[in-house]
Amino acid sequence: MRASSWTISDDVNRRSCLGESRLGAPSNPSNDLHKRPHTVTDPVLVPGLAGIPAAKSSISFIDGTAGILAYRGHRIEVLAEHSNYEETCFLILEGRLPTAAELETFRGDLAARRGIEPAVVQTLSSLPKTGHPMNGLQVGLATLAMTQPKVDVKDPASVREAVLRLIAATPTLIATLERLRRGDDYLPPTEGSNTAEAFLYMLNGEAPSAIAERTLDCCFVLHAEHTMNASTFAARVVGSTESGPYTVASSAVGALYGPLHGGANERVLQALESIGGCEQVAEWYAAKRESGGKVMGFGHRVYKTKDPRAHTLQRLAGELFDAHGSTPIYDTALELEKAVVADLGGRGIHPNVDFFSGIVYQKLGIPTDAFTPIFALARMVGWLAHYEEQHQDNRLFRPAQIYSGVHDATWVPIDERG
Ligand code: ACO
Repeated sequence: MRASSWTISDDVNRRSCLGESRLGAPSNPSNDLHKRPHTVTDPVLVPGLAGIPAAKSSISFIDGTAGILAYRGHRIEVLAEHSNYEETCFLILEGRLPTAAELETFRGDLAARRGIEPAVVQTLSSLPKTGHPMNGLQVGLATLAMTQPKVDVKDPASVREAVLRLIAATPTLIATLERLRRGDDYLPPTEGSNTAEAFLYMLNGEAPSAIAERTLDCCFVLHAEHTMNASTFAARVVGSTESGPYTVASSAVGALYGPLHGGANERVLQALESIGGCEQVAEWYAAKRESGGKVMGFGHRVYKTKDPRAHTLQRLAGELFDAHGSTPIYDTALELEKAVVADLGGRGIHPNVDFFSGIVYQKLGIPTDAFTPIFALARMVGWLAHYEEQHQDNRLFRPAQIYSGVHDATWVPIDERG
């Protein structure tokens, strides 16, 4: 018995090491890279795929040296000044600005899809109250998918219905997660409101002030889309398997959660609070550099100057503080920016979008661990526009690797291993 199973294992091991398939047929000799001598044409590993194009896209554009970001050709500063989240969503999805009538219809389409089913509320209310809302959001998106008609990924109309549902219902999922964990009930959205207004109403149980609504709306515009970042790439990769939009959204949320990506906004605020005031910035920063740690909210793979979104967020923060009084955190942030840029600006390290967003959200009364979910709420449209674009000419993502392991390893039976 033992001898026989050992022979089979050994044979399987030998064949796979020699490049034969487990079914016995010889594999394609050209795939047996480990047997060929290395040549100058061997693939070169680019860590983090930095600078490697993964798709052709007409959705957004960045010039990281000049500090330019545009959605469908429209500069972010112009959109932040003149547009609103619904109009920006239409622009990103359709590739053009809507007419007044189209915008009205689009707003109505979102408002009609904002409520969530009792089964979703029930699932969210069963979650531990101590967990992070980004995990809760992934649960919410998966549960939402299970309450919806099956999406036919080959049918653009079926996909678009799911896309609208996701953009509309994600704010409700996030507000509901927050309400439930503080012991409040699900508050259904009011009819006819825009996304920022609906979100703040569901979160706080009262109509927001005009400045709060406008500020949050502008934050949504700034975060709506940003070329081939980690979460968008994750959305494209999962979408390329012909998985549906709900699964794509949940995967992108997972990628955004990391502290090197969207999760930085939460950590920026924690750092600013821990510094303890302007006077402590120099000492805190010196200790941070000494420990080799990164300063959250600074640096970017593409921008080598101040992120254009950070400029607008800083202005929004200033307006909020003028209207509602300043907080020491804002002054600490300005002092920290000076220290980091004096030290690392020459290496292209400047504030990114996450540096000022948390300060704005805190002033709006939003809890710190809801910052990254709000980023996800706003970015949902960008992820899904990339998903739709991927499907215009889809090919499964399946990159290569450079194998760095051993070959022809010897199989040792388990009871003979040391
Ligand atoms: N603080 C201190 N040093 C930094 C920082 C920072 N925030 N960012 C980069 N560096 C340094 C690195 O230590 C490294 O130094 P070294 O060459 O001496 O080792 C060098 O700059 C290159 O850093 P990488 O991390 O390799 O550069 P990359 O292009 O991959 O970085 C990233 C981009 C991940 C955003 C990085 O700047 C970072 O970790 N920033 C802090 C986290 C953050 O704010 N993330 C949000 C980004 S915006 C967004 O995703 C929405």
